Amino acid sequence: MKLLILGAAGQLGSTFAAVRNHDVVGLTRVDLDVTDHRAVVAAAARETPDVIVNCTAYNNVDGAEDDAMTALAVNAMAVRSMAAAATRVGATLVHYSTDFVFDGEATRPYTEDDRTRPVSTYGCSKLLGEWFAQDAPRWYVLRVESLFGGRQARSSVDKIAAALKEGRRAPVFVDRVVTPSYVEDVRDATLALLARDTPSGVFHCVNSGQGTWADVGRHIADLLGADPGLLVPTSVKDVTLRAQRPVYCALSNDRLAAAIGRPLPGWQDAIRRYVATL
Ligand SMILES: NC(=O)c1ccc[n+]([C@@H]2O[C@H](COP(=O)([O-])OP(=O)(O)OC[C@H]3O[C@@H](n4cnc5c(N)ncnc54)[C@H](OP(=O)(O)O)[C@@H]3O)[C@@H](O)[C@H]2O)c1
Repeated sequence: MKLLILGAAGQLGSTFAAVRNHDVVGLTRVDLDVTDHRAVVAAAARETPDVIVNCTAYNNVDGAEDDAMTALAVNAMAVRSMAAAATRVGATLVHYSTDFVFDGEATRPYTEDDRTRPVSTYGCSKLLGEWFAQDAPRWYVLRVESLFGGRQARSSVDKIAAALKEGRRAPVFVDRVVTPSYVEDVRDATLALLARDTPSGVFHCVNSGQGTWADVGRHIADLLGADPGLLVPTSVKDVTLRAQRPVYCALSNDRLAAAIGRPLPGWQDAIRRYVATL
């Protein structure tokens, strides 16, 4: 299978670019600006991939409130170009989305059938991207959340681990509920979905389980043998951010588990494997 990875220098993109058991072409922003429609179509025509894997994103959630045009260009219009490019070469389009397409008012993990209602410009731009991805002949929209791993080491998990290792205090939300996603598990689940010829669809591609950031912090402290007293319990209400964030955002990955024939590893196990690499 030939994979064309877009956004190959990012957290998830660099993880895909390192895949060795497939023919992989990774393009970074330097190689291809995905907001250039003609360039996207030309890249697909040149490479003739079986699968276009879109790992690009404008991920600055607060920045998107003041720069909606860039967020829309990268997270939505570029996906439209990729769907057009995939149609021309008969490729599958894999597109990653986010828990931020939900409003965070649920009291149990969101499923793919739950109503989307983004509360930020970033979330709106990602939801539009989900819709445009569905123009490809075969497509997967994979929602990930609180992604960690990859070359960059800049995720919230990395920030908490770095602070604890250095004996610094780390603020952790006691009321934001998430299902973290390890880039290696996301990559493996994506490849499993592709290998099984699964029908097109939206899937929640997160590790299993749910927890608050305080739970995540305690787990990391435990793994590092660090002082859990360095974790500073913080409420979402105590922090003012430019963009509104969904508070409860655990995602159920049951549909994906059924599609690939196995459950995804729990988030505690995923963080344990990642922290061992630090
Ligand atoms: N990180 C999370 O916690 C999180 C949570 C939910 C969903 N997601 C989704 O998961 C996917 C992967 O996220 P990630 O964390 O791996 O993202 P990332 O590390 O920020 O990587 C995104 C990549 O896209 C590139 N890019 C941005 N604009 C571009 C353009 N116009 N043309 C070409 N490339 C461009 C960036 O290049 P530069 O570095 O040069 O800007 C970067 O290499 C995204 O769809 C994201 O929305 C992530």
